Amino acid sequence: MTLIRICFAAVLALGALLAIPATAEENPKASGLIWTIPDIAALPDDAHGQLVRRGRELIVATYAYIGPHAADPAKRFAGNDLACGNCHLDAGTKKFGLPIFGLYWDFPRYSARTGADISIEDRINSCMTRSMNGRPLPAQSPEMRALAAYLKFLSSGVAPGEQIPGHGADTMPELDRAADPKHGELLYARACLDCHNTNGSGVARSPQAMSLGYAVPPLWGGDSFNDGAGMARLVTLANFLHSNMPHGADYRDPILSVEEAWDLAAYVESQARPQKAGLDRDFSSDLLGKPVDAPYGPYAGKFPDAQHKYGPFAPIRAELARLKAEKDKAPNKAR
Ligand code: HEC
Ligand code: HEC
Repeated sequence: MTLIRICFAAVLALGALLAIPATAEENPKASGLIWTIPDIAALPDDAHGQLVRRGRELIVATYAYIGPHAADPAKRFAGNDLACGNCHLDAGTKKFGLPIFGLYWDFPRYSARTGADISIEDRINSCMTRSMNGRPLPAQSPEMRALAAYLKFLSSGVAPGEQIPGHGADTMPELDRAADPKHGELLYARACLDCHNTNGSGVARSPQAMSLGYAVPPLWGGDSFNDGAGMARLVTLANFLHSNMPHGADYRDPILSVEEAWDLAAYVESQARPQKAGLDRDFSSDLLGKPVDAPYGPYAGKFPDAQHKYGPFAPIRAELARLKAEKDKAPNKAR
């Protein structure tokens, strides 16, 4: 049953793939009260309209403009040939497809990783240096200005402070055991390999011209996100898979079971990928704020690395809650 559904969805999704560029399909059920994506086509062709369109283009075809094979060597900021839109699906507008819709006003916001407030530009650069395994875009560069303008445009109908459900990749139930890469490997062969290829290497549009990016992006290896990226965390990846993969799946009608999604994520996370230097400095001023599934130390609690990588996470959360309560009770509340 599951297998048949997977094959069916794969065929549908492949059809959509061949018809590149895929038009972001309007799903009638998806448009709740406030999940209303502003219409980019309605923008006038003035300087602002052009900047916003350029920002969208940078999201869906990042590799062409700032990838390692971009025409202008001075613009090669990303370290891999991915597009932001490979993870932020439908140009960042898909509910639970890691959308970047409606969150412009959330910034500046506190980041436990740096222990300080970060701007929207800082947040973009955190994906540039981790998900894109590259270097930061200068705040005043035309590319950063265009990306920020697109994000602001995507928030045009949203009031500051308004919280919209649908961000991230949803939160499915967790397992009370460690996720199992061996089981994930079997599932990968059945449900992912046809598209993402052997060795998770993806399918380049043209291997001789990597500035054209991937028809299907790689999941591990040298041209993937690095070990400091959000996708390198089990909870993020498992939920992303459950809500979005195989390509064409949707959070309201997932194709993978909860268990399959966790084990598949474990298999993908068990593979080699670029390593980011200095990860031990992340969260150094707020270790209690470090996500339970950050797969690198140091940690506030004393659980082994493998449990941070594969779970189960409930015991880690309980320990962190206990440490936090202890800290709050301490007479000297210095933070
Ligand atoms: C029908 C083809 C297809 C199948 C099957 C499929 N994917 Fe994907 N996957 C894609 C495409 C295409 C994208 C990029 C999405 C975009 O750009 O819109 C993607 C994106 C991803 C991403 C985020 C981008 C990245 O490079 O990390 C992950 C993770 C992922 N897939 C994992 C999986 C896993 C695990 C499976 C098996 C359950 C799977 N996919 C099945 C086509 C597929
Ligand atoms: C390999 C997948 C991947 C790629 C490629 C990627 N990101 Fe991200 N991005 C993530 C994940 C995972 C998160 C964390 C989402 C969360 O916190 O729920 C994130 C978060 C963000 C956020 C904050 C969203 C929020 O919900 O708070 C922004 C803005 C963002 N990314 C922009 C970009 C831009 C711009 C690019 C391209 C330059 C990019 N990302 C490339 C995976 C990716």
